[in-house]
Amino acid sequence: MQQSVARKRHWTLEDIPWAQFDAAKVDPDILKVVKAAAMVEHNGGDYAAYLCNVFHDDPDFQTVAQAWALEEVQHGQALAAWAKLADPSFDFDAGFKRFTDGFKIETGAKASIRGSRSGELVARCIVETGTSSYYAALKDAAAEPVLKEICRNIAADELRHYKLFYDHLRRYLPRENIGRWKRIAVVLSRIRESEDDELAYAYYAANEPAAIRYDRRRYSKAYARRAYGFYRRSHVERGVAMALKAAGLNPQGRLNAWLTRFGCWFLARRSRRLAAAGV
Ligand SMILES: [Fe+2]
Ligand SMILES: [Fe+2]
Repeated sequence: MQQSVARKRHWTLEDIPWAQFDAAKVDPDILKVVKAAAMVEHNGGDYAAYLCNVFHDDPDFQTVAQAWALEEVQHGQALAAWAKLADPSFDFDAGFKRFTDGFKIETGAKASIRGSRSGELVARCIVETGTSSYYAALKDAAAEPVLKEICRNIAADELRHYKLFYDHLRRYLPRENIGRWKRIAVVLSRIRESEDDELAYAYYAANEPAAIRYDRRRYSKAYARRAYGFYRRSHVERGVAMALKAAGLNPQGRLNAWLTRFGCWFLARRSRRLAAAGV
């Protein structure tokens, strides 16, 4: 592809217009989820170690995975720097240590926990679907101009990450031939995991004093209440299309329309109910 020749220089923290920061436009709920997202993104190096184990005889993919992880870590740095501007008392290093002490990624696995390399790549596509939709939604929801710019950059990276994992998925599918049902099963299981420990623990480590005990249900709800409210129909529709494509299904058409309607209804209802419960 021409892309590698023509590809623009990747953005850095120096490209962010920090001087435009406007404290009056910081939303306290957005600040909480940004702090949590900074922790998860900054943990990208551990995922690269896991991916390099799973793809131990594929140096091309290992190179890609290492470059990918550096971009994820940079997302964490940009979000942490913004959170520090918005809340100078925010101690990222202390929070990140609590996060990584309490939430461990299994980096030693020699084979994918998804049963095949294709399954692993489908799961990676779903993660990038989630992050690209999430940062696009956060960009549209945020009023603070520096955060908007950070989210715009990150959302574009996440979309590119999806394409990257999808390209490798296409390379592995003819070799492994895992079938559509297995792809669909990986998609569903990875979507279900989005309310698991990782984001809940990051939300807790980033926002709660160490004296308070971790409660997965409580912090999973606290995160979801804030994050789910950002999504608009266009974000859900594009996310659904990307997930269907990763599953080997038609990204557009009736199934997309139905799932988009269901997704919008689910996100709005869950965020409204959690807000009413005072989470
Ligand atoms: Fe990221
Ligand atoms: Fe990503």
